[in-house]
Amino acid sequence: MKIVTDIQELRDQLRGQNRASFVPTMGNLHEGHLSLMRIARQHGDPVIASIFVNRLQFGPHEDFDQYPRTLEADAEKLEKEGVYVLFAPTEKVLYPEPQEYRVDPPKQLGDILEGEFRPGFFKGVCTVVLKLFSCVQPRVAVFGKKDYQQLMIIRQMAHQFALPVEIVAGETIRADDGLALSSRNAYLSDAERAEAPHLQASLQQLRLDVLDAIHRAGQPLDQSLRELEKKTADTLTQRGWQPDYIAIRKRADLLAPSNDDLLAKKELVILAAAKLGKTRLIDNLEI
Ligand code: PAF
Repeated sequence: MKIVTDIQELRDQLRGQNRASFVPTMGNLHEGHLSLMRIARQHGDPVIASIFVNRLQFGPHEDFDQYPRTLEADAEKLEKEGVYVLFAPTEKVLYPEPQEYRVDPPKQLGDILEGEFRPGFFKGVCTVVLKLFSCVQPRVAVFGKKDYQQLMIIRQMAHQFALPVEIVAGETIRADDGLALSSRNAYLSDAERAEAPHLQASLQQLRLDVLDAIHRAGQPLDQSLRELEKKTADTLTQRGWQPDYIAIRKRADLLAPSNDDLLAKKELVILAAAKLGKTRLIDNLEI
């Protein structure tokens, strides 16, 4: 595997490759990322990975400085997965001057859920992903469903800019106890790590409650769903979590379903973000 830090060198290395499959990451790779590399291999050849901790997507009080940087160990893992090129630019290479041109996703998608609690996050994500696409020029790019809203926003960006790249989704990989793998899990204390799977467990319970409410279809359904979201958030709060949101949304646009949407059996997803101590975890569950 070749590790490339420079854009021109990357282009030289990939010249003539028109079936490249790309997985952008911020490093500190775990089994979740590696599963995306395997999906990438099924969709194209060669597989290109990138590691870049993107300052533009971190808020002023977020963990940009503490974000784990483990390039050597990451490179070893990628080599074993048969990755052809690891693009690992420095900030000077990717942002040699202030990045004044940015991609601003539509407010109805970019400013809700994660976007409400992390203002500017998706603008930072879209800007770096577009720039990485321009460097790598892949035919396929793979993103995990763990970051459900990110996946959807990048899909829409690729569609609206007519980018010649197919966006492929990878399922969330979980520890045996159900906790979604994430680089931020490393911040959890032992006690918090023991509690952390409860986020997914509470979404599983909420899913059952939603299905039950839909079958019973008593009071206006959208209202029952709001009550169920609140019940789940309250239960998490009692267990010591600080929930940012527990939201039942339509998969198609991440907006809250109306009663008519529910009666028309529109596909739903539950999205959640909550803090455990100082660590903020996100997860989701399709219904
Ligand atoms: O999901 C991530 O790791 C990041 O948001 C991404 C897509 C690599 C952009 O920095």
